[in-house]
Amino acid sequence: MVKFGFVRWCVVVGFSCLLLAGCAVNSSAGKTLQIATDPTFPPFEFQKESGELQGFSVEVMNAIAVAANFKFNFKSLPFDGIISALGAKTVDAAISSITITEERAKTISFSRPYFKSGLAIAIRADNQDITGFDSLKNKKIAVQIGTTGAGKAKSIPGAQIRSFDSAPIALQELLNGNVDAVINDAPMTVYAINTGNLQGIKIVQKLLTEEFYGIATPKNSPNLALINDGLDRVLKNGTYSQIYQKWFKVEPPSLPAKS
Ligand code: ARG
Repeated sequence: MVKFGFVRWCVVVGFSCLLLAGCAVNSSAGKTLQIATDPTFPPFEFQKESGELQGFSVEVMNAIAVAANFKFNFKSLPFDGIISALGAKTVDAAISSITITEERAKTISFSRPYFKSGLAIAIRADNQDITGFDSLKNKKIAVQIGTTGAGKAKSIPGAQIRSFDSAPIALQELLNGNVDAVINDAPMTVYAINTGNLQGIKIVQKLLTEEFYGIATPKNSPNLALINDGLDRVLKNGTYSQIYQKWFKVEPPSLPAKS
């Protein structure tokens, strides 16, 4: 009798524990998030020839998902459409080298910063005329639509701004002689020059601004805590530093804890 009772007790308790554990996992982790990205921005988010996504942000996002125990799918969107998709909640989050700005933070939420960046001016290597931001007045400037670089270009008196769907296209326009300069994120432009993809281009003013990238979610999304938790973990356990050194060949700088 006693033996049977004990066995039955074990079965009941064991089963209840399984149920509880299942519920706990479902409520916080174990979800599949849809995460938007514009994969035209090497070395952050770009495509292999096979179409598979690769880059620093792709690896950071994978590491975050492992650390915080959730699943996700990437959804490719033009950069220009990412913030509206977050506003309309058709995606759960976005990682796309998105600069944390006060303006954007009015309509979407940001994780803690995961990358320190800034804007740079690129010109053709043989150009002696443009020496910095102040010499861009009345010039033709190419930018990627919807970016902080586009915002900066708008502040230049008399500038004729040409907007393109991606930063590589804007840089190609510069190379082709159709514009005088490109305002774009410095690390992306430096990477394009260093990998030899853009011979004939130089940077005149590096770090025109200081910017930080954050993972964006719809305003006050419950997933923000999950993403921040994963990001905290990969920053602490060395995974972030490994990924950073793989792509940038130097130790990562320290990052502010809050956006
Ligand atoms: N950091 C800039 C911004 O937030 C440009 C980001 C472009 N990212 C991309 N995947 N195309 O405006």
